[in-house]
Amino acid sequence: MTVAERALAMIEDGTAIGLGTGRAATQFVKALGPAVQQGLKIVGVPTSDATAGLAKELGIPLTTLEEAGELAITFDGADEVDPHLDLIKGYGGALVREKIVAASSKRLVILVGPGKEVEALGAHGKLPVEVVPFGLTLAKRKLAALGCPPVVRLNPDGSTYITDNGNPILDCKVGSISDPAALERAILDIPGVVGTGLFIGMADTVLIQGDDDTVTIHKRGG
Ligand code: A5P
Repeated sequence: MTVAERALAMIEDGTAIGLGTGRAATQFVKALGPAVQQGLKIVGVPTSDATAGLAKELGIPLTTLEEAGELAITFDGADEVDPHLDLIKGYGGALVREKIVAASSKRLVILVGPGKEVEALGAHGKLPVEVVPFGLTLAKRKLAALGCPPVVRLNPDGSTYITDNGNPILDCKVGSISDPAALERAILDIPGVVGTGLFIGMADTVLIQGDDDTVTIHKRGG
């Protein structure tokens, strides 16, 4: 079984669900399309223009947070998962909308492959931070002072990467983060910062794809 198939079984008919961004979320949306065609009644709120485009191609009905109100469940990927099910997200650039959709959901279910589990957040060395363009210089200086020296994310052609919200991303160099909540507060205190890739206390379930078609399920507090 795949994590996408396991995730499908968690959906209740007639609900509004959040649709994440990235490879794992794309696999889930690709599994959701046929389920909708076969009669599953859901409406999706996408976390990026890319996911919205894919969902439309697959005939998945979409709505907005304004229309949907509280979502029943959101399915998304992650870049790091620690033993408390706290996360780093945003290597794919959709961190701010992902966090808004996750916070609008009763449940956040994370789908990952092997290699995403870490002992402490920051193990992969990068924390994405989205900043409004006017605040870039200040944010760079303050982040460096916090011990997280940033680089502006670039596209493959060398131009500045811009999120669906019209902002650049600073990829901050980090090591293992001893107190993720304190770092989150310190970064959010910088004027112009829109959001960080730290998702603390948000995921309630993590589905991990094994090499042999097995799915390991971790639940918060479980
Ligand atoms: C998108 O902004 C990210 O938060 C992704 O959810 C995360 O980077 C995981 O992506 P993959 O499933 O592609 O590894």
